[in-house]
Amino acid sequence: MRKLSSATDPGTLASWIDGGYEGGDRALAAHARRVMLEEVGPSVHMRGLLEFSNECRCDCFYCGIRSSNGRANRFSLSVDEIERVALDCLASGFGSMTIQSGERRDEAFLEFVEHSLVRIKAATRCADLPDGLGITLCVGEQSRETFERFFEAGAHRYLLRIETSDPGLFRRLHPARQRFDRRVRALQDLKEIGYQVGTGVMIGIPGQDSTSLVRDIEFFHAIDADMIGMGPYIAADGTAAVEMERRGLRPEGSARERLTISLRMIAATRIALPDVNIAATTALQALSPTGREAGLAFGANVMMPIVTPQTNRQAYQLYDGKPCIDEDADACSSCTARRAAFVGRPVTYNQWGDAPHAIRVPKEAV
Ligand code: 5AD
Repeated sequence: MRKLSSATDPGTLASWIDGGYEGGDRALAAHARRVMLEEVGPSVHMRGLLEFSNECRCDCFYCGIRSSNGRANRFSLSVDEIERVALDCLASGFGSMTIQSGERRDEAFLEFVEHSLVRIKAATRCADLPDGLGITLCVGEQSRETFERFFEAGAHRYLLRIETSDPGLFRRLHPARQRFDRRVRALQDLKEIGYQVGTGVMIGIPGQDSTSLVRDIEFFHAIDADMIGMGPYIAADGTAAVEMERRGLRPEGSARERLTISLRMIAATRIALPDVNIAATTALQALSPTGREAGLAFGANVMMPIVTPQTNRQAYQLYDGKPCIDEDADACSSCTARRAAFVGRPVTYNQWGDAPHAIRVPKEAV
């Protein structure tokens, strides 16, 4: 595994995550912001986040939409509905969308995703965006051929969290058929195909400590990630609550502690990997009303206002207390922009907002 630069050696990063940054967390945040300003600039990039289906073949023990949750009200939007949301994103000035769902691998689903990508691209080409909206896809582990298909259809970024880079911890969180090595292989496939690749972890999993979190950062570096999305690990409803209890997987530490560690992790990641895009995730806001602003203050530079139709939001509850369930897309768009302005950051409109890391690194070097 490639190592990080000596400026951010593992011991130093671990001490920061444990709260030992000299001058405290405010000074750590200021350091991360200095690096951010220098490497990626002050702007916050917006991606409209559309959760288009909660049907899922996976059974992650911690997830509210796991396949064994019979109480989840399953839904899938139509291609027309997806296209309509894409046009709304365009009208809101978002240069990019993130399109997320549960994981399925049946041909009907793959065709549906492919078709949706083609439709979004065709519908959103305009003077400001000659190649249409930038599309980040987030539909789980797929075969290399499928990833290639989706790339051809117009997705140029892909999010696939490793959830934890510790294989033992990964095994405790997932059924045996969901394999750590396959997740890593998928990330490598995505990179080789030419996607800008995003990954990330949950923070506050029982058994996870600062050493493990530093290994997560080293993992991001080793797979040459372009984008990082991380958030606190949160209790979930239904069968996930039962599994968490049964397997000793209830979130560790208070909500405040998990939020604090998550913010330190964002800052440490920004300092260790200066030119990547880092999201201020919705999960931060589940633990504090101003969690996403705090994420920006600790070095994040991407926000993903939810644009899922209001009627479907309740059914996409990955964890308890997910915010914005009662809001609609307009409310989320203006609220997110206000949050960025509140911490003094400009918002970019009508641009894809790719990470400098993705643009700088020649593909041959991967
Ligand atoms: N707590 C925090 N994050 C969760 N996710 C799913 N369930 C939970 C939970 N209980 C996150 C996972 C997944 C992303 C879509 O949502 O990291 O990759």
